[in-house]
Amino acid sequence: MKKVFIKTYGCQMNERDSEAVAALLAARGYRLTDSETDADVILLNTCSVRDRADQKALNKMASLAHLKRKRPAVVLGFLGCMAQVRGVGLLQDLPGVDLVVGTQRFHHLPEYLDRLWAARQPIVDVAAEAGSESAVKDHVLDVNGNQRVTAFVSIMQGCNMQCTFCIVPATRGPERSRPIPEIVEEVRQLVSVGVKEVTLLGQIVTSYGRMTGGKSEFVKLLTAVHDVPGLERLRFTSPHPKGFGDDLVQAYRDLPKLCEYAHLPVQTGSDRILKAMKRGYTRDSYLRIVEKLRTARPGIGLGTDIIVGFPGETDEDFAATLALVQEVGFDQAYLFKYSPRRGTPAADLPNQVSREVKEQRHRILLNLINENVARKNAQRVGATVEVLVEGRSPKNPARLFGRTRTNHGVVLAGGDDLRGRLVPVRITRANRTTLYGELT
Ligand code: SAH
Ligand code: F3S
Repeated sequence: MKKVFIKTYGCQMNERDSEAVAALLAARGYRLTDSETDADVILLNTCSVRDRADQKALNKMASLAHLKRKRPAVVLGFLGCMAQVRGVGLLQDLPGVDLVVGTQRFHHLPEYLDRLWAARQPIVDVAAEAGSESAVKDHVLDVNGNQRVTAFVSIMQGCNMQCTFCIVPATRGPERSRPIPEIVEEVRQLVSVGVKEVTLLGQIVTSYGRMTGGKSEFVKLLTAVHDVPGLERLRFTSPHPKGFGDDLVQAYRDLPKLCEYAHLPVQTGSDRILKAMKRGYTRDSYLRIVEKLRTARPGIGLGTDIIVGFPGETDEDFAATLALVQEVGFDQAYLFKYSPRRGTPAADLPNQVSREVKEQRHRILLNLINENVARKNAQRVGATVEVLVEGRSPKNPARLFGRTRTNHGVVLAGGDDLRGRLVPVRITRANRTTLYGELT
C-alpha cells in the first residue's frame, strides 16, 4: 500500500482542500502517514498570500529534493496557491518535482499519480475547471481513531474583489458557489456520522451566490443549513465587512445555532489606506457594523485581520489603526506585515514602507492587541459558558479541549465520554490564548 504525506501551508481553505485530497486518495487505496521519511508521495499544499509562505514551501521542497537523491522513487508534488501562480516555473527551479497541481484541479490527483507510477514524466496542471467548486467534498471523519466533532464545509471558491494587496483572486479565480441543496446534503451527512459543528468556508463567504429579493443568498444558505436536525452549531469564515447587511445581522438574532462570533477583517483604521486598498468600506461604516452586531448579539466575539506597512502608510495612518483596535477591543486579531505580491497593484506603488518601520509598527500593534485580548479573556473568569468538547487537548492529552460559542479555546478536565457534547463550563483561569475551566 502506497503512503502519502501531505503538508499544508496557509489558511483554512488549504486545510480543507488537503483534507479532501487525503480522503480522495485514501478511497483509492493510499495510506495517509504523518511521517515524510517513509512516504511514497509527498505533497506540499502551498500558500502565496505573503512572501514568507512562498519561501517556506520552496525551502521545504529544496530539502525534499535532496532526500530524493537517496530515494529516487518518491513522488514530490506542489499543490495549491503557489502551484497555481508559479506553474511550470517550479519544475525549472526545483528539479525533482514530479507534480504541480493548481487550485481548481486537486481532484485529478489520483489519475495523475497513476500516470506517474506508470511513467515518470512531470505533470503540470494549473487549468481552470468549470464546476470545480463542488469538487472539495470528501471528508476524513476519523482522526487518530476518534470521530470528528467539527467539520469545515467549502461553500464557494474564489473572490471577485480586487483588494490591491491581495493575490487570492489570482490564485483562486473568480467566485463560484455551490448550490444550496448540495451543501445542505453534505452537512446532513456529516451530522449523521456525529459532527456537531460546521464552519462554512470560502474566501469571501458573504458574496455566496447572488442577491435575490432583498435577502442575500448567503443568509438563505445559513438558514437552510441551520435547519439540519442534529446540527448544534454553525459558523462561517471568511466574510467581508461589506457583506454584513441588515439581513445577516438579523440572522444573528434569528438563528440560535449561529455562534456569536464574527471575523471582520478590517486591514487598517485609516480611511486613506482603506481607499488605497480598495476595501469598499470606511472606518465609520466598519464601526457601525461592529455596533449593529453587538446590539444584535451582546457579547459577540469579534476577530480581525490587520496589515501594517501598506505602501504610503504614514505615522498618522498607523495611529488611526491603533485607535480603531483600542476602540473595538477585538477578541482575536491576526497581524501581518505588508508583503508585496507580484502582479497586484499595491506591489507597484512608489512609496513602499521600509522593513524597519513595518517591524516597529508590528511590534507596537502586537503589544496592544495582546494586552487587549489578555484583558478581555481575564474578564471571562468566573463566567459559565457553553463548551463543545472536541476531544483531548493537543498540548496536554490529560485534559479535554473545546470551544465556546464565541470561539475561545477552553481546556478542562474530564473523560472521553464528553467528546462531542455541549457542556456548561465555569472559567477559572485565563491567559492570552486559552481559557481554563471546570464542568459545573
Ligand atoms: N478573505 C480572505 C483573505 C485571505 S488573505 C480570507 O480570509 O480567506 C488573509 C489575510 O492575509 C488578509 O485578510 C490580510 O490581512 C492578509 N494579507 C493578504 N495579502 C497580504 C499581503 N500582500 N501582505 C500582508 N498581508 C496580507
Ligand atoms: Fe483578498 Fe480582498 Fe478577496 S483580501 S480574498 S481580494 S476580499
